[in-house]
Amino acid sequence: MSLLLIGYYMSKNNKKFVCESCGYRTAKLHGKCENCNSWNTIHEEIQANALTQFNMEHVTPLSLSNLETQEYERLQTKISEFNHVCGGGIVPGSVILIAGEPGTGKSTLLLQICTSLILKDNANKPLYISGEESANQVGLRAKRLGIDINKFHCAFGTNLEAIYALLNQAKPSLVIIDSIQTMHYQESDSVAGTVGQIRTCAQILTQWAKTHSIPIIMVGHITKEGTIAGPKLLEHMVDVVLYFEGERTYPFRMLRSIKNRFGGTDEVGMFEMHTDGLHEIENPSKLFLNQSNQQSTGIAVYPSMEGSRPLLVEIQALVVQSFTQMPRRSVVGWDQTRLAMLCAILENKFKIRLSQKEIYINVAAGLKITEPASDLATAMAIMSSYYNMPLDHQTLFIGEVSLSGELRQASRIESRLKEAIKLGFHTALVPAGTQYTSDKIHLIKIQHLRQAHEWIKAQKGRDVDVI
Ligand code: TYD
Ligand code: MG
Repeated sequence: MSLLLIGYYMSKNNKKFVCESCGYRTAKLHGKCENCNSWNTIHEEIQANALTQFNMEHVTPLSLSNLETQEYERLQTKISEFNHVCGGGIVPGSVILIAGEPGTGKSTLLLQICTSLILKDNANKPLYISGEESANQVGLRAKRLGIDINKFHCAFGTNLEAIYALLNQAKPSLVIIDSIQTMHYQESDSVAGTVGQIRTCAQILTQWAKTHSIPIIMVGHITKEGTIAGPKLLEHMVDVVLYFEGERTYPFRMLRSIKNRFGGTDEVGMFEMHTDGLHEIENPSKLFLNQSNQQSTGIAVYPSMEGSRPLLVEIQALVVQSFTQMPRRSVVGWDQTRLAMLCAILENKFKIRLSQKEIYINVAAGLKITEPASDLATAMAIMSSYYNMPLDHQTLFIGEVSLSGELRQASRIESRLKEAIKLGFHTALVPAGTQYTSDKIHLIKIQHLRQAHEWIKAQKGRDVDVI
């Protein structure tokens, strides 16, 4: 009886309200959004009665073994890092979202993708649609990048109806929309950039891509919090989500796949920004390591994994005497909470007095490391700085440290060590259970952080000098 009442109540009250700013849905009309605290952004969401829309087609279950599967014939650009992140090229009819902070180089990358397609095959007709920049701006940038403007097709505008008509007429091989937040569909009455507009425009474009089997790459802006504006709903609608990351003060840029319906996620493409555009980085590990032979204290090398790709990076630590009540702990590119944990372990197990020391941790070249397997390298960098003792620059450190000081296994240790061998590393401190063996690298298997502490003290056979 009560279920029937609930059903009746629901059918009577099927009004829904949505916040135009953040997409939050609610059953009541509020003046202020409970989620993002914006005022006057909640409007009724018009919903067609779902049942009347059903077209009663028959759906029959199929066994997967009876399905005919066919590999996609992917569109290959000449930028192999981009192909790699997409899972081996662009799938026909797929929709790719590239998100990033302003100024990271999204428009530059997309212009270069268009050019590379034209260079590869003259019959390729990519179409670049810009709603953000004027023809003059795009033209000047294209010239700077050395693009042959005569072969390059672009359009400028934000009116989605006009763009839709253009797409139908031009039938390009690839469409670039820069950016989805600037697009405007007149029948949806909110202003460009709001959740309603972004959703409608993205839906129309996605449908067009699927119907014509032509891929679309959309640029999406990132909010202050680091998510795509009009966010989750866009991520659900598209096939591939790529984040273009990088500190503006460094030339390195990373294109990272967060979602990919046609390939692996967490794959990373590496680029370097030059005055003539983005260059692919073929051997990234070399770039992130200090090439000088001079040994400095507080530096430990860690073979990080970026997707399926190993990348050797330097973790730097500086431990100095503090003259304040609350010594500073400053971390760039690593985890502040894990640093507090490591300090407590080092203090508790080896009587390394860190509570009166200021500690600075930095990951070289603006990289961010989130893997717990980097614990050992960070602990070694801290000890190296504390004892004023440089670590051998051709030794690397892998392993997660537990609260008891035991070392835990890291994933994909083989690829990490192979990359290290390629770059001339001859020694690695690894967790005890490591199966990999090679005569090219000396593996020191350790069970407890204590052994790493003893190893550092035994280096060069001299007494360590505590700062
Ligand atoms: P842009 O592609 O406009 O970034 P986005 O579309 O993500 O906002 O790139 C902007 C920055 O890149 C700008 O600050 C200048 C720099 N840049 C170069 O350093 N070299 C170049 O060849 C180009 C085209 C841009
Ligand atoms: Mg741009």
